[in-house]
Amino acid sequence: MDEILIKGGRTLRGEVSISGSKNAALPMIAATILTGGQFVFHNVPDLKDIETICQLLVDLGAKAEFSNNTARIDTTGLSHYEASYELVRKMRASVLVLGPLVSRLKRARVSLPGGCAIGARPINMHLEGLQKLGAKIKLEHGYVEAQADRLTGGEIFFDIPTVTGTENLMMAAVAAKGTTVIRNAAREPEIIALADMLNNMGADIRDAGTTVITIHGVSSLQPVTATIIGDRIEAGTYMVAAALTGGKIRLTGADPLHIKPVIHKLREAGVTVGNDDSSITVEGGGPIKSVDIKTLPYPGFPTDMQAQFMVLMSVAGGLSVISESIFENRFIHVSELRRMGADITISGNHAMVKGVGKLSGAPVMATDLRASASLVLAGLVAKNTTRISRIYHLDRGYEAIEKKFAGLGASIKRVPAE
Ligand code: EPU
Repeated sequence: MDEILIKGGRTLRGEVSISGSKNAALPMIAATILTGGQFVFHNVPDLKDIETICQLLVDLGAKAEFSNNTARIDTTGLSHYEASYELVRKMRASVLVLGPLVSRLKRARVSLPGGCAIGARPINMHLEGLQKLGAKIKLEHGYVEAQADRLTGGEIFFDIPTVTGTENLMMAAVAAKGTTVIRNAAREPEIIALADMLNNMGADIRDAGTTVITIHGVSSLQPVTATIIGDRIEAGTYMVAAALTGGKIRLTGADPLHIKPVIHKLREAGVTVGNDDSSITVEGGGPIKSVDIKTLPYPGFPTDMQAQFMVLMSVAGGLSVISESIFENRFIHVSELRRMGADITISGNHAMVKGVGKLSGAPVMATDLRASASLVLAGLVAKNTTRISRIYHLDRGYEAIEKKFAGLGASIKRVPAE
């Protein structure tokens, strides 16, 4: 298994092109299940998770091709309704096929995702929502079995906003009989991207991006060509890199509006951030001030940027309190950052981060995607060499990460494990 080797201390400068969003692409690719035909997606990130969802579609009987960031998916022959344990355990987002499978094939059998490194992550709200739309749900042998001759519109109220839950139920509802209202819906840009795609397919979804989404069921849907929006979390990660290394990075390909909460916190920390409609420029170099953050559903500060921001706070000028309110175990990077010299104390879902000015390189590993990204950032600013293992997590969510950072002047390379 490969590792990443970083010699820290370089100031990063230049331009980086942000890839398509993983978390927008996954539900959009799952949405191809809804009707037979040829779909084309542009700006698809070349990532392990994209390979997994395409593999899942092939298992269901579709054809999928991927090259040069374009995915072509033909769902004409899709006829199987089972998502196996083998695939779901690799990627929890596989559960996104549940809603569209019940809609098209009237049934679905999807392995129940287990907990993962960042939390228990149940899918009860997906299942309760499907039941509200008339599906019969059984849990047997580790699988969810859902069945409905024709889904019917209903009112769904989420206890807490769930991103993939909102997506799953939007997809289930588009061809249901009657009107569905999702209340306390998630508002992430990826939800709007999926709704735009579904509406282009002929669906009637209103107010995606607000807390109340209304879906009028339609009787037919057509395949479409769609372009994936830029990845706001990848963008945020490079923005923190500019701030951390005291450099200047111009990012293209991401929508500044989607990254507002991160821009806001970077500015509060004393980092200069400018933007026009199509690019964001981040310039560090001055002293970094400690600021507090609390992760919240969009448009709050994203949990997927918490670990990266913690690295910035680790070298800031004071004490920062970072509160994680989405996932119960999302501080797994802390013990690795401590090994690099960070001064972080955890109390419940709060991390007290005392800025130490400098980190020092160490061999580290992480057990989830964003935690791994935080270790790369820490390596970029640390003295001497950092060796990061288990980088398959990074390959799930960051396209060509070492090439992009090397292009900005970092000393970083992928090497076979010793
Ligand atoms: N939750 C429940 N029951 C449910 C669904 C969710 O209790 O049925 C809880 C979760 O345990 C969590 C909260 O609700 O405490 C919110 O979770 P959500 O369902 O919104 O998360 P998700 O849809 O599973 C997506 C992203 C994650 C991102 C979260 C939060 C995708 C494919 N995944 O997960 O992305 O952290 O929203 O923004 O969109 C990542 O990319 O690294 C990643 C983990």
